[in-house]
Amino acid sequence: MQSLNWLLLSDIHVGMGDLEVLWPTAKHAFFEDIKKLHATNGDIDFVVFAGDLAYKGVTPEYDRFNIVLGELWSVFAGLGFNPPLVALPGNHDLSRPSDSNPATPMLKQWWDQKSARETLFKGTNHYRDLISDVFSAYTNWSKSPLPHGIKLLADNEGLLPGDSSTVVEKNGLRVGVVCLNSTWLQLGNENYEGKLHVDSRQLLALTKDDPTVWCQSNDLNILVTHHPLGWLEPSSRKQFESEINPPGRFDIHVYGHMHEAASEVTSSSGSQQRITFQSRSVFGLEYVGDKITERSHGYAWFTYKREEEADRLFCKPRALFRQNSGKAKIVQDHNFELDDAGTVPLFSRQSKALSPTPKPKIKEETSSPALNEVTAGTSTLKSLRYYLHPSAAHKQVRLIEHRKAGEAINSERAVWIVSDWGMGGDEFLYTV
Ligand SMILES: [Fe+2]
Repeated sequence: MQSLNWLLLSDIHVGMGDLEVLWPTAKHAFFEDIKKLHATNGDIDFVVFAGDLAYKGVTPEYDRFNIVLGELWSVFAGLGFNPPLVALPGNHDLSRPSDSNPATPMLKQWWDQKSARETLFKGTNHYRDLISDVFSAYTNWSKSPLPHGIKLLADNEGLLPGDSSTVVEKNGLRVGVVCLNSTWLQLGNENYEGKLHVDSRQLLALTKDDPTVWCQSNDLNILVTHHPLGWLEPSSRKQFESEINPPGRFDIHVYGHMHEAASEVTSSSGSQQRITFQSRSVFGLEYVGDKITERSHGYAWFTYKREEEADRLFCKPRALFRQNSGKAKIVQDHNFELDDAGTVPLFSRQSKALSPTPKPKIKEETSSPALNEVTAGTSTLKSLRYYLHPSAAHKQVRLIEHRKAGEAINSERAVWIVSDWGMGGDEFLYTV
């Protein structure tokens, strides 16, 4: 069996007012939980940070962020490993540009400014210069040595600051990670929900103009943005779903920004499934009224396993829980449907190691023709086997259909399902 582990972190906002006061205690709950999961799950092979490292995107905040990174990697070092880091910027990792720069109002009105849209991705221009400027502190951080010799992975850098693609090779597995800057239009302080853009040219520049082939060469492919799909402008959302993340290309799209954790597995009109995972903030504060703040701390531990016949992706979402004593602990995030080990299964599919489909092996020396047939038949079926996605939630719905399907299988040993719903077919079959 081959496997690897990776952490998803996001939104620590170093520089935010109360972090200096609250993080010194909160960090220990985080570190203790890492040690606890390590004891049963093994070393962490790489870490993904999905943006908002800083609060105002200025250099002193990245210096402070490096101290936090150093503390975390000290914990890793104590456990005997030193994972590389993959990161991209969030909306708190850029400084707001001056409106006196003529490029600023043009980019702020991106969706009404055809000339800006036609120019930005064509070579060097003043729009690209402005975007580089606003992310300059983040870029400088990414180019500077990190504590503990942490290696920031970015095999290929893209058109915009923070765009990168990289391949992690570990334990005989290849994991492709693509980071796309989703926040480069967020140049003001207003609400940008439904107004942002990720351009398919950002992805093409990172994958030699062929993201399908790039992804096919890896066992697992992870797409990282800071924002969820809902923050993109409607036409950008369509482009994202068709040109960047069509079903079957990336295995999972992870993002942060929202501070609360969530995941979705969707299929549209019978398509392959798309999986998204929204990361809880490592350190998030939501202001409720003048005096009350609600805190959100957490992260997610992912494991990718290649077993004899199946590739599986699991996740352990973790969240801060405050005990009656006032002490905070990071524990299983019970907003998810968890198994007894605190795990959410994300997919289970036929192992890519079995592709292309091997020819069945027939034992010619076997004397019994009947046994030959059974052996050949079993091998053939193995290569045709299709793995269903586990779905505890679907056990609670369509109970009448489950019962009828079960009765048909028991009495006829076969069932023909004709459905009028467009998604969730695999989950229905799994529950039957
Ligand atoms: Fe954010």
